[in-house]
Amino acid sequence: MAIAIVLFLLVVGSVIFHVVTPWWLTPLASNWGQMDLTIDITMWVTGAFFIAINLFVVYCLWRFRHGKGTKVAYQPDNKRLERWLIVVTSVGIIALLAPGLVVYAKFVNPPAEAMELEVLGQQWQWRFRFSGPDGKFGGSDPRFIAANNPFGLDPADPAGQDDLLVDGNEVRLPQGRSVKVVLRSHDVLHDFFVPQFRARMNIVPGQVSWFWFMPTKAGRYESMCAQLCGVGHSNMRGYVVVEDDAAFAAWRGKLPTFAASLNPAAAAPGGDIVARGQALAASKGCLACHTLDGRPGIGPTWKGLFGKTETMEDGSTALVDEAFLSEFIKDPKARDIKGFPNVMPALPMTDEEREALVAYIKSLKP
Ligand code: CUA
Repeated sequence: MAIAIVLFLLVVGSVIFHVVTPWWLTPLASNWGQMDLTIDITMWVTGAFFIAINLFVVYCLWRFRHGKGTKVAYQPDNKRLERWLIVVTSVGIIALLAPGLVVYAKFVNPPAEAMELEVLGQQWQWRFRFSGPDGKFGGSDPRFIAANNPFGLDPADPAGQDDLLVDGNEVRLPQGRSVKVVLRSHDVLHDFFVPQFRARMNIVPGQVSWFWFMPTKAGRYESMCAQLCGVGHSNMRGYVVVEDDAAFAAWRGKLPTFAASLNPAAAAPGGDIVARGQALAASKGCLACHTLDGRPGIGPTWKGLFGKTETMEDGSTALVDEAFLSEFIKDPKARDIKGFPNVMPALPMTDEEREALVAYIKSLKP
């Protein structure tokens, strides 16, 4: 009897919590209101079954409770009841699956006028690519990936020369325009997700997947990786800025083309080397594991790191100077620093980039 009361209170409590919960979906900022509708349908179907099944158990516990003179009849099967249960659960399962399949079919069939945006995931950073005036993406292949070609684009493909590259974690999109999002991964499974757009998809290594959406509200939205992809996963964040056509066109006009990025003179702009290192630290995802304020992270903090003496797992010590940092960035697995997991990936970087990064770390005095 006590269990019946507890179960009954559980059902009532769940319904009340559903009504007063502070956890609602963020306001919708894309065309995908249908995603919310399918979530609602799932909630109503599973909710109805949850309430019905639990109340049935409560009824049985109460009606057939142990007592003097209670007799229980053994009834191994009941064809009529089984038929009803099969019909009811089948209708429930169809109601759960069918709306999702209909919406998914629309989700992966972009309209012809959609502009294309490529999202490239890598432990633990994002990059983006737009097609150039020819409206076509150039081909890519993992064997082309290099420090000056992180997208792995085919240098010989004429269609790729005018492609516009975003080597950083913030991308912009025009409001009210359909976007076909094409997804590629450098290494492991990632997932590009902006909650306000209700649009997301896994990024499977070795496979190009896609979906489309239309941003309907201007704003700056945080994008996140929605698949556990290693120790830096929680910091694999980025931003999608939705703005009007003119602002978007002005921003896009300043993006480097692939052809320009291959030109060393364009790839190594002059100016302050420390500032360049700082920009690299952000765009290469270093700050996913290294803090700048002395707090411990997955890797050592960069504050006051330069000039320190680090102890290795094997007990040997090394002075952190330019040569040490440069070697470490080149081949992070070669040494094992005591107290930190040996998980830093070797990111392809030019000598010039590595030098800038070391100069930046050196500038972070204790
Ligand atoms: Cu990428 Cu999680």
